[in-house]
Amino acid sequence: MSLAERSAMFYASESAYAGSMSMLSDVRQVAARVRESMDAGAVTPYYPLPLESVHGVLQGAIASEIICVLRYQQHFYMTTSVFQDPIQGMLKEHWEDEQGHLGRIAERMKQLGGIPNFNPEGLSERAYAQFESGHSLSELLRQDLIAERIVIKMYSDIVRFFGSGDPVSRRLFEDILKDEEDHADEIADLLFTIDPTSGKTVERFEGDSTFVSLGVAGS
Ligand SMILES: [Fe+2]
Ligand SMILES: [Fe+2]
Repeated sequence: MSLAERSAMFYASESAYAGSMSMLSDVRQVAARVRESMDAGAVTPYYPLPLESVHGVLQGAIASEIICVLRYQQHFYMTTSVFQDPIQGMLKEHWEDEQGHLGRIAERMKQLGGIPNFNPEGLSERAYAQFESGHSLSELLRQDLIAERIVIKMYSDIVRFFGSGDPVSRRLFEDILKDEEDHADEIADLLFTIDPTSGKTVERFEGDSTFVSLGVAGS
């Protein structure tokens, strides 16, 4: 390689390096702005999402998780079946998972400067998931499945809402979403076992609505 070629390569790599450096923030400028708002915890002045909407979204998720814990607990005590032990075991596992989700979302709310709302008053209105019951085991499980599917839809939207603006919250909801999908899958399998006419059900979401239909397989 000639000297001219080597020198051209050097300058090309140097300008690429300078370009990549300019993509990084000026550290002193960042430190000065961050120092101005030290009491805001993890929320720096660079947090790009509207905090009021973020708190609203998290509040809805917190209320939904509380509803899910309560619903699974009630269904646990209502379950009477020859398969009582394994079914109760699953319901208990689910409510413990929901309790874990609740804690993680409340913690994130606190980090983002909000106050997690645990007030029972207005809980159903704040929640995405409904508190519904039933008079038979299959009705109970059907209600659990509907609630899980609504939560799956809402949390998928929340993952998109946080996007690249707040990757920590996005990853939190991606994580929780995985659990909710497992819950829905386990309930759908169980429902099929005790009531084969239920089939493996498919939900229909229309636009932004959370309309859910439990279709019979093959229909
Ligand atoms: Fe949950
Ligand atoms: Fe769940």
